[in-house]
Amino acid sequence: MDELSAVIVPLQFGEAMYENLRRLKALNKQYTPVRINEELALPISSESPSFHSIGIPYRIERVMFEHSPPSINPHRQLKEVIQEFIPQGMEHAFEFIPTKWERLDDLILFPKEAFTQPIWGEIIQDKNNFFEQIANVLQGRRVGRQQPIANDTIRSSQMELLLGDSSWVEVKDNGLFYGFDACKVMYSSGNVTERHRMGSLNVEGEIIIDAFAGIGYYSLPLLVHGKATHVHACELNPESIKALNWAAEKNDVSQSITIHEGDNQSTLPNLRGIADRVLLGLLPSSEAAWKPAISTLKEQGGSLHIHMNVEEEHIEQWTKDTIQTCLNYAKSDDRDWRCTHQHLEKVKWYAPRVRHVVLDVSFSSSNSAS
Ligand SMILES: C[S@@+](CC[C@H](N)C(=O)[O-])C[C@H]1O[C@@H](n2cnc3c(N)ncnc32)[C@H](O)[C@@H]1O
Repeated sequence: MDELSAVIVPLQFGEAMYENLRRLKALNKQYTPVRINEELALPISSESPSFHSIGIPYRIERVMFEHSPPSINPHRQLKEVIQEFIPQGMEHAFEFIPTKWERLDDLILFPKEAFTQPIWGEIIQDKNNFFEQIANVLQGRRVGRQQPIANDTIRSSQMELLLGDSSWVEVKDNGLFYGFDACKVMYSSGNVTERHRMGSLNVEGEIIIDAFAGIGYYSLPLLVHGKATHVHACELNPESIKALNWAAEKNDVSQSITIHEGDNQSTLPNLRGIADRVLLGLLPSSEAAWKPAISTLKEQGGSLHIHMNVEEEHIEQWTKDTIQTCLNYAKSDDRDWRCTHQHLEKVKWYAPRVRHVVLDVSFSSSNSAS
C-alpha cells in the first residue's frame, strides 16, 4: 500500500472521472481506485492544478492505494496501450483495435487490415513510438503487418515492417528451426498439423521429392524426424531457397537435401524414376505438377501427397476424380499400376466451405501381391 494523491468523486461520477483522467494522462494506472463509503478515490500521477473543466464535483486528498494487479490478458494490455493514443472525440477508433495477431520470433505480425483505417492516420503521429509501445506490451521487439498474398506463383511480398530494422525471423517448431525473410516469403502458420503429420510418417530409407519445398516445412520434418534418406527439394523463389539452405544447415541435414532451383515443370523430369514419395504442396491447386510427379516415382510405385483447396461438399467426388486422373497419367507414362486412396487429411478451412485437403495416394505395380 502506498499513500498517493487522489481525486475523490461521488460514486455515480466515478466512471466518467476515470475516463477523463485517463484521457488527460493524469490517472496513475499502477494503483487500483478505491471506494470510500459513497465516494470513489482515483489515484493520480501528478497534482494537476485543476480538473474543474471536466465539470464533475471533486476534491483532492491523500489516500492509501494498493498496486494494480498486472494485466495478463494481452488483448486488454494492447487496448490499454492504444487507448493512451486516442484523443477525445475519436473514441470510435476503439472498434478498430486489432483483436488478432501472430508472433514470429520477436516480431508481432498483425493482419493486413490492422491500423489501415483512415482514423489511424490522425492518431499515429509518431509511428515509431506508437509501434514501440505495442511491441513492448506484447513482449516483442518488431511489428509487422501482413500484406495481401501477391497473385504470383512465388507468392512474394508478404509483410510490411512497421517497427524494426530487419525482417529476418527464426522460428522453432516441433524441434526444428526455420528461418526466412518475412517481407519476402510466405509463412503459413495454418499448416502446422500437416507439418507434424509429415514428421510422424515412417519414411526411413526413402527418397522423397518435395515439389513445392518453400522454406522446408515438410522437407525438414521428413528428414529429421522421419529419417528419410534424401530429399530433393524443388523451389523457384530465390528467397525461399535462401531460407531452405539456412534451415538445412541449422538442422544439420545439408548433406541429405538437394535443392533443384527453378520451375518444377523443368526440374521434375530430371528426377525420373527415383522417388518413393512426392509432396505436392501448392494451393489452391498442385494439379499442374501431378503428371511430372508421377513420372518421378520408382518402377515399383510409391506415394503422392496431393494438396488442394476443395469445396466441402465436393471432397468425395474430387477424391475419386483425382485417383482416376492419376491412374490415367500413370498409364500414359506406361506404368502398369494400381492406385489407391490411403488417407484424406483435412488441414484447415481455407475459405467458407472450402477446405485445404491433402490426399495421400499410393501406386503399386499390378503384378505385386495384393
Ligand atoms: C505453399 S508454398 C510453400 C509450401 C511449403 N510446403 C511450405 O509450407 O513451406 C509453395 C511454394 O512453391 C513454390 N512454387 C510455386 N510454383 C512452383 C513451381 N512451378 N516450381 C517450383 N516451386 C514452385 C513457391 O515459391 C512456394 O515457395
